[in-house]
Amino acid sequence: MSSPSAPPAAADPASPNAVRVPTVRAATRAGDSDFIDELQAIAFGPGRFARTAFRIRERFPIDMSLSLIAEVDGTPCGSVWMTPISIGGINGYMLGPLATHPDFRKLGAGKLLAREVTARTLARGEGSFVMLVGDRDYYCPLGWEPTTLGNIEFPGPVDPERVLLFAADKSLAQTLAGPIEAFIED
Ligand SMILES: CC(C)(COP(=O)(O)OP(=O)(O)OC[C@H]1O[C@@H](n2cnc3c(N)ncnc32)[C@H](O)[C@@H]1OP(=O)(O)O)[C@@H](O)C(=O)NCCC(=O)NCCS
Repeated sequence: MSSPSAPPAAADPASPNAVRVPTVRAATRAGDSDFIDELQAIAFGPGRFARTAFRIRERFPIDMSLSLIAEVDGTPCGSVWMTPISIGGINGYMLGPLATHPDFRKLGAGKLLAREVTARTLARGEGSFVMLVGDRDYYCPLGWEPTTLGNIEFPGPVDPERVLLFAADKSLAQTLAGPIEAFIED
């Protein structure tokens, strides 16, 4: 019989029954940048440099203070970036890439990262939306909405069905229009 003071199996990360719960932190530690590089290579492969979203991030730098890491039991397992942009004169952000290491998928890390980075970003009060290119089935249950097809102009090919928007103003997904441009500084 086990001692009453023994910790439950779920509290022991080495146990096969351990509950692996992701947490999120800012990507500020030594080694984070190497981890993110490797993760993006695993998740998106060599073709990632040709993606339209990559071209946007080449023109408009990511906000390093919004680079987040997901961890499980202290091991980095996921990453997300945010790029400040504007569309039609309205400031906002593009989310991505979002990736979870294949060994840590289906634990909730991806959705936690998407939710957390969006909450931290919009809490700053400097942008009105978080736009991304992704699967509706994944992001719409989290609050993203389809945009009006073709309204948002990308510097390369993109499936307009996958252009999704998160905003407090629910009309913005239908009305936001124009090319993706630099974040407008005061
Ligand atoms: C997409 C990705 C980030 C999900 O990461 P994750 O940490 O496993 O996500 P979560 O644990 O929060 O959610 C997992 C759930 O989403 C589902 N899901 C994963 N990818 C999905 C997709 N593209 N469309 C719909 N559902 C998806 C899973 O089947 C799972 O469903 P379940 O909870 O019913 O089992 C990860 O699979 C990944 O890095 N993929 C490669 C890179 C990529 O495609 N990034 C997204 C670019 S927009």
